[in-house]
Amino acid sequence: MSIFRKELANLRAYVPGKPIEDVMRAYGLTSIVKLASNENPLGPSKLAVEAIKKEADHIHIYPDGAALDLRVKLAEKYNLDVNQILIGSGGEQIIKLVAHTFVNEGDEVIFATPSFTLYDIMSSHIGAKCIPVPLTEDFKHDFDRFVELINEKTKIVYVCNPNNPTGNIMTKDEVWSLVERLPETCILMLDEAYFEYAVHDPEYIDGLEVLKKRPHTIILRTFSKVAGLAGLRVGYAFSSSEIIREMTKIKGVFNANRLAQVAAVASLEDEEHLTKTLQLNRESLHLMKNYFTKQHMRYVETHTNFIWVNINMSSKVAYEGLLRKGVIIRPGFLWDFEDWIRVSSGTMEQTEIFLKALDDVVHEK
Ligand SMILES: Cc1ncc(COP(=O)(O)O)c(C=O)c1O
Repeated sequence: MSIFRKELANLRAYVPGKPIEDVMRAYGLTSIVKLASNENPLGPSKLAVEAIKKEADHIHIYPDGAALDLRVKLAEKYNLDVNQILIGSGGEQIIKLVAHTFVNEGDEVIFATPSFTLYDIMSSHIGAKCIPVPLTEDFKHDFDRFVELINEKTKIVYVCNPNNPTGNIMTKDEVWSLVERLPETCILMLDEAYFEYAVHDPEYIDGLEVLKKRPHTIILRTFSKVAGLAGLRVGYAFSSSEIIREMTKIKGVFNANRLAQVAAVASLEDEEHLTKTLQLNRESLHLMKNYFTKQHMRYVETHTNFIWVNINMSSKVAYEGLLRKGVIIRPGFLWDFEDWIRVSSGTMEQTEIFLKALDDVVHEK
């Protein structure tokens, strides 16, 4: 008899992007370009850094467990009631809380594959039956198949929009076509970790429109991407006040620390940082797309700060070749896509270093 919870026996751990320090040690390198975790290459907003410095003298005091300043700020920005907002220790905690709030043993949850692997880990850990639905040929969520698989046991339907690792969006019409067919008892979780990169496209649906019509909807967003605060761990959820109330009961009393809270508030005030981040993202991706097109590498049109591309060779071989040159990307074999890689946008210098290294690796094969 194992001492562990039975679900752990089959649980596969999340594989994060390789840390810079590991690669430096393993390959004896002093400089690394990490384009593996969709971080902000510009770094955080200066306003956030200033706020952290100011707050540093107060870290002997517990944080505000309700994170009220941050929730008020988000409520004003998105025209919501404060009670519709929950702050998490990263979006990843929101994913965990959603599973822990709704799943009873034997309930079913549906998500696309490949998509963000934490939906599977967090819900199967507590006894959910996971139903992965392969993306279509053009890397879309297969909503018709989702609907066919929904039954009275289905508790959560996850939609990653834009999707990680493919970077593409489900359009307004597509999302509505799913929403119209969802039973009311199903929780729709819209993962909008990359919202800010997608929102300017008129085809993209802001999850808040769905929430207005359908209270059993949860929207996840994060300060880890566009705001450049991945190291501080701040994410958030929007939902009905009833759902937020229940999720809050199990969030952990002080789940968002002082530095994280003040930095998140400050970064919401820094429009310039946001504009520069989006501009750099476009330029970096533009350079990559030009190269991919010239090399006849098929890529998926992205609405995020990363791109999914078929490099016409083993992603495992390319991944190792790139590591040796000090460049970290995410190889597609992790998702059973042998010839694909996911690469984050970088500074222009990082982008050039990546493309040069990729070019070398492709021609070495
Ligand atoms: C689709 C998606 N959702 C959620 C997250 C969680 O982000 P974090 O926990 O850093 O807020 C990520 C991070 O990579 C992501 O790609």
